Amino acid sequence: MAEKLQTSQIMEMETAHYSGGVGRRPVAIVRAHGARLWDSDGKEYIDCAAGHGWANTGHCHPAVTQAIETQAPKLIAHTESAYNDQRALWFRELAEIMRSELGDSPRGPLSRIHPCNSGTEAIESAIKAARLFTGRPGVVAMRNAFHGRTLGALSATWNPKYRKPFEPLVPGFEHVAFNDADALDKAIDDRTAAILIEVVQGEGGVHPAQAEFLSAARRLCDERGALLIADEIQTGLGRTGRWFASQLFLDAGFRPDIIALGKSLGGGVPMGAAVWREDLGSLPSGAHGSTFGGNPLACAASRAVLGVLRDERLPERAERLGAELLRELRAVEAKQVREVRGLGLMIGIQLRGKVTPLLKELMDRGVWALPAGPTVLRLLPPLVISEHDLNAASRAVREVLGGGCRRRTPDATRRYTQPLRAGSGRVRISRRVDGGSRPGSAYRRRRQRRRRPRRGRQRDSLTRTRRHLLR
Ligand SMILES: Cc1ncc(COP(=O)(O)O)c(C=O)c1O
Repeated sequence: MAEKLQTSQIMEMETAHYSGGVGRRPVAIVRAHGARLWDSDGKEYIDCAAGHGWANTGHCHPAVTQAIETQAPKLIAHTESAYNDQRALWFRELAEIMRSELGDSPRGPLSRIHPCNSGTEAIESAIKAARLFTGRPGVVAMRNAFHGRTLGALSATWNPKYRKPFEPLVPGFEHVAFNDADALDKAIDDRTAAILIEVVQGEGGVHPAQAEFLSAARRLCDERGALLIADEIQTGLGRTGRWFASQLFLDAGFRPDIIALGKSLGGGVPMGAAVWREDLGSLPSGAHGSTFGGNPLACAASRAVLGVLRDERLPERAERLGAELLRELRAVEAKQVREVRGLGLMIGIQLRGKVTPLLKELMDRGVWALPAGPTVLRLLPPLVISEHDLNAASRAVREVLGGGCRRRTPDATRRYTQPLRAGSGRVRISRRVDGGSRPGSAYRRRRQRRRRPRRGRQRDSLTRTRRHLLR
């Protein structure tokens, strides 16, 4: 029989050997089903993080576990250097979904698929493909963007906290202000291979792109011969109420040339893909690949994921449940809430203070949520979450928001044990086309002032990052 480890043993053993690099919560998750998680002490959580945005079809969906069980004894992995039935079927099914959801562009469908093993690899593949197809080096990405942590994807990621310790990064990358079409216009020239955009910035704080900006990006690419890459690693596969968030902006003329997918694609089995326009062509033999890319186990799991998304109509479900949740959260009157934004079941609550104490408070109440930067509470529940669980999670979030600002004390842990009281502040919301709301310009000026780092402060934060990484 397997040894039953105590939580403290698990933590000690991991801490003794773990490389570090990712902040941890002091619990061990040992079981999950649908939108429920269990820790090693038997405490149950409603998952409002979907792993980290990867569990759109929920944890251990029976169709996914069945597909893994059926495929594992036959063939787990074999390189792309030989053909395989599961990979062939997965290619065909994914290409068919891309075609039916995104429609045919005048230049043909997105049906050339490069399979890989993670989101960051999908971005690497998209960047390499764009450089190869255009013969140009430049990539224009957005401020606040997050595209992954391998060196190419990290070069497109904006946050200095992730970048600084690993410089020098890959040359040819530039960042412009998100949703600023003029800045984009100035940045794109005849050396630009691609514009890289998250349709909703996830890690950067849940900021939906504006339709005019996306339409300008498409126009600039067409005019100047660059390719448009949409990073749909977090927004894809139903999360925003459509199969792909790009669909929400098709009417505005937004049509990516390359889409990067990951997270939910394998239903928990590591998987990623870069999917590009048929007419761009394929990579020359030997140009790019990986040992496990498109392995039969991942392809079988992903076929099940695609089937569940379709049969259980999960994109539609995300749209309906997300709209209700947004409405509820926007009705919260609490001083510490600056604004609530999102699309589908991808929701960010911009706070006036730090998010960490609220995450802890939610965990104490059995809700597992995420941050998106230091001051945004992010909710990404699995799309299969029951209405009962979503209501319970929403109630907990509203209670925590309602009381948090009144009881801020230097000792954050003391706060968690105090009873909640409703706050009396107001949420200021000015609706935009994309359904989001924006902080006022005074707030933006204050943030810009804060961002301009003094030399000493920059060094301090770098040292802190290094210390954090070394911990
Ligand atoms: C938009 C986006 N792109 C890329 C990545 C990187 O994906 P992975 O962690 O699978 O490498 C992430 C991960 O959070 C993401 O949210």
